[in-house]
Amino acid sequence: MQGAIFTAFSDMIIEKMGMEQWNELIDKTSPTSKGIYTSGAQYEDSELINMVVALSEKTGIPAEKLVEAFGQYLFDILYKNSPVDVSKIDNLRDFLLAIEDVIHVEVKRLNPDSYLPTFNYEDGPNGELIMYYSSKRQLCHASIGLIFGAAKQFDEKIEIGHPQCMHDGAQSCKLIVKFVG
Ligand code: HEM
Repeated sequence: MQGAIFTAFSDMIIEKMGMEQWNELIDKTSPTSKGIYTSGAQYEDSELINMVVALSEKTGIPAEKLVEAFGQYLFDILYKNSPVDVSKIDNLRDFLLAIEDVIHVEVKRLNPDSYLPTFNYEDGPNGELIMYYSSKRQLCHASIGLIFGAAKQFDEKIEIGHPQCMHDGAQSCKLIVKFVG
């Protein structure tokens, strides 16, 4: 995964838990990179996963909750540094619809080494937006955090249902975004 994701992760840990905790995570998980990341480079996904597992063991917070919190934190950074001009998109639904066909397409064009998830969209019966997420990384909880981060950006209130999950063997995760105000 791209270095930008790792630098965001280390920023979050240092900001919320301090430098000592970050150093402890590096000591515990011994990443090949030694925890030194640059935005444009690629690093092993396992470095991030191992740190999440270690953090979960230490804090007792379930790994999926940590990944979701990270997704929300990451959103602001991705949004600020977006390679696509997203400033004209003024609502959450249009923004979410732009991820697959506009934003991630441009990310891939600029960084051909990147591996991006796939989203398929469907309209729900009561105005919900249904997003089917699939990726070899199975980072659906990061998606949920990212979607909550986007909702905050657009000042919209949402609930997210997750009735079908790749972690239970499904081909894709079904994320139901309900707009509640
Ligand atoms: C301006 C907004 C966004 C930008 C610029 C952006 C860009 C990126 C980049 C650079 C990566 C890393 C690719 C790699 O490591 O190879 C990534 C991964 C990812 N993005 Fe986005 N993204 C944005 C918004 C979102 C949103 C709102 C979602 C939520 C639905 C999302 C879902 C994901 C997920 C889940 C991954 C992890 C990779 C995986 O699941 O396989 N992104 N994105």
